[in-house]
Amino acid sequence: MTMRHRQALSCLALLFILVSSSASILDDTCKSVAARNKDISYNYCILFFQANNTSTTADKCGLVVIATKITRAEAASTRNRIDALMASGTDKKVNGCLSECRVHYTIALNWLEAAAKGIESGNLQDAEVTLRGVILGIDTCEEGFRKLGIKSLLAAEDATFTAGCSIALTITSML
Ligand SMILES: *[C@@H]1O[C@H](CO)[C@@H](O)[C@H](O)[C@H]1NC(C)=O
Ligand SMILES: *[C@@H]1O[C@H](CO)[C@@H](O)[C@H](O)[C@H]1NC(C)=O
Repeated sequence: MTMRHRQALSCLALLFILVSSSASILDDTCKSVAARNKDISYNYCILFFQANNTSTTADKCGLVVIATKITRAEAASTRNRIDALMASGTDKKVNGCLSECRVHYTIALNWLEAAAKGIESGNLQDAEVTLRGVILGIDTCEEGFRKLGIKSLLAAEDATFTAGCSIALTITSML
């Protein structure tokens, strides 16, 4: 084997180690998230992070920031769905409920951004409180439908969004 071959091989080996070790940060983190969270499986966590391909090279802090980006995109699209539902809805009470949910998703958009800034500046405690607040807001949205005694029109969106926020919160608690 020539020197050049050897160098090429060791570069390849180094690249492999770099790639596989960063992939395993995501892997290890999702394993821990699943272990600490009865509602979230390892596979769910991996699929969640596939929404942003930079997650395979991110550290734990980076993963929380990415999680807030993914959930903010979900919140924005749920707000659009709420607008569409309200535009075609005729029941005043149901529209009132949707309107309250819209308020909580608007707050979530702001708070998720604040949480990401908190993580980046090392205010982990604040970020945790903020993420808990976001989750509570969506719970209040669901509570509205329960009080009306009807099936939530946002059940799927609320569940997906809450799971994403729980992933962000769980990783934050591990930092
Ligand atoms: C990630 O996705 C973006 C946009 O879809 C693409 O431009 C970029 O090349 C991808 N990066 C990697 C590392 O796959
Ligand atoms: C993916 O995450 C990175 C790092 O947080 C961010 O810069 C980028 O905007 C995200 N991509 C998308 C499509 O949200």
